[in-house]
Amino acid sequence: MKPETSVAGSGAPTPACKDRPPVNKRPYHDQEGQLLPLLITPGENGPDLAEWMQGAGDEFRNDLTRFGGVLFRGFNIRSVEDFNRFMKCFNTEPLPYMFRSSPREEADKSIKNIYLSTSYPNKRSIKLHNESSYSRVWAGKIVFCCIRTAEEGGETPIADGRKVLNDISPALIAKFRAKGVMYRRNLIPDLGMPWQEVFQTNDLSEAEAFCKRNNITFKFIEKDYIVIEWVKPAIYPHPVSGEETWFNHVMFFNKFSRYDELGLPPDYVLPDKFLASHTLFGDGSEISFEEYNDIVKAYRKNIIAIPYQQGDIIFLDNMLSAHGRNPFKGDRLIVTALIEANYDVDYKPEAF
Ligand SMILES: [Fe+2]
Repeated sequence: MKPETSVAGSGAPTPACKDRPPVNKRPYHDQEGQLLPLLITPGENGPDLAEWMQGAGDEFRNDLTRFGGVLFRGFNIRSVEDFNRFMKCFNTEPLPYMFRSSPREEADKSIKNIYLSTSYPNKRSIKLHNESSYSRVWAGKIVFCCIRTAEEGGETPIADGRKVLNDISPALIAKFRAKGVMYRRNLIPDLGMPWQEVFQTNDLSEAEAFCKRNNITFKFIEKDYIVIEWVKPAIYPHPVSGEETWFNHVMFFNKFSRYDELGLPPDYVLPDKFLASHTLFGDGSEISFEEYNDIVKAYRKNIIAIPYQQGDIIFLDNMLSAHGRNPFKGDRLIVTALIEANYDVDYKPEAF
């Protein structure tokens, strides 16, 4: 199954200009082969980050494509407003968070589309995933900003999708190349998310029409119980470099992730109505526990978790880098923004 995609707007900062104040750049890790992330800190007479980014042009885009993500540290970022000023350098409005899979609120009602990171119990981890990679439309870039650190934990772990792809067994990759991945979501209140929140409407016919437009099977089971299914590639070429990357929600949405969370053994049979989501091969055949575990191990091998410092910005190429969240204690405040819409080729932006 070959992906065909398009990108709306580059999301790139304005072209490079000369005489910009310097910054320091180096890979965060000095292990060979570990590029993610690039660390950028202010140079002497450290520039204002937004001002620096205004002139960063292709230099920043090239760094991001090579490293998969950038950590900005030590700049003067103290508030949601500072972060918003930085995001304005990208000549594009942050994208709204549509076709949702997790609860999310805007950080400040006066600033559009800068969200609080997912509200999910502090004690739990959020497994690695690429934002909205299950959807027909997704953001090319996802950006996290630390306004307030946690007392303990709360990192945003990341992993390079090119390396994850390389570490999954070739036989399993061949299966995903041939079949793609089928996503299934059971939309039931109090389980995952009610369909009204997923589709951001209270009109069932609008939700059904959204599914039809996006080649998603829509099954009405009973009032407030909808099952949706669709197929997508599991591996995508990067729109700029063409490098292949593991870009999907195969692990995150799979039933074994839920079993893991609940402490259930893999041979347990949990009825569908207790599963908010599931993933299968594109022909509807099950992904075995061994196959699921192959993917888990590949992520684990490549995971990087950097403790936040106040003002840190983690800027990820969403197609090249997966992210998650570690459990934490304290009053952590991380805000996030998504930019640069990418589409599967059969997706009609005007119909969204
Ligand atoms: Fe996420």
